Amino acid sequence: MSSRNHKRPVYVYPTAEECALIKQSWDYILSPPVSESGADTSTINLTIAPTEHSALSDHSQNHVVSTTGFVTTQSAAFTGTQQYPNSPATQFTIAFYTNLFHTNPEYRFLFTDVFRQSSALSGMLSRIVRNVDRISEGADAMRRLGYRHAAVYKIRDEMYETVGRNMVCTVRETLMKQGRWSPEIDWAWLTVWTLLSTWMKEGAHMNPDESELDQKEKCSVM
Ligand code: HEM
Repeated sequence: MSSRNHKRPVYVYPTAEECALIKQSWDYILSPPVSESGADTSTINLTIAPTEHSALSDHSQNHVVSTTGFVTTQSAAFTGTQQYPNSPATQFTIAFYTNLFHTNPEYRFLFTDVFRQSSALSGMLSRIVRNVDRISEGADAMRRLGYRHAAVYKIRDEMYETVGRNMVCTVRETLMKQGRWSPEIDWAWLTVWTLLSTWMKEGAHMNPDESELDQKEKCSVM
């Protein structure tokens, strides 16, 4: 970031206890009790509802999660059938997008392929959780991600709060079903989300050269 950038926001880092809660709760999400895993159910029908946005009607998607470990997608937007790994992490992000499109149907049109996106987000969340104790090392990667969100996906600053609320609610909902939720978990996720959003919003306001868009290096933290 250049020195032209005015006031630096205050970064609130998760405490050691919050880092531990994040890791523990993510472990719970990834390893639900057997009764929650759906292993005794042959299929689960999941529908990501399209918005009223008329241009989107072609993107309405019907998804079937099978016990073969894959999510099958049948959609007017695809010519064939697509399969995605059906991991608990992907299930969590699918629940997250389902909640998001329920509270904010207008966000639906931003996503071209919710299942591909669910898998990208769950991968990133896993990396963030794994490295949450050294989260600051990922700040620049998050700024670049924030630049892409603003420049390519047209995401505005105020959307981070809406999406963050949904993320915390989905964590709560998932853990409540397991009887493993506590209010401290909400705070821990909120702290991490707010910190990541702060970096992403900084990135959103960078110049293209500052955003180092051509830099393709992989950051070990994010
Ligand atoms: C901490 C916050 C967030 C994280 C970690 C995150 C992560 C990601 C990742 C990993 C991708 C995959 C593509 C890429 O790497 O460029 C992505 C794409 C995307 N994200 Fe985010 N995101 C965040 C916040 C948001 C918010 C607030 C919105 C607002 C609705 C949003 C909307 C999108 C959209 C529209 C795409 C592209 C989807 C597509 O191409 O179909 N993200 N995000």
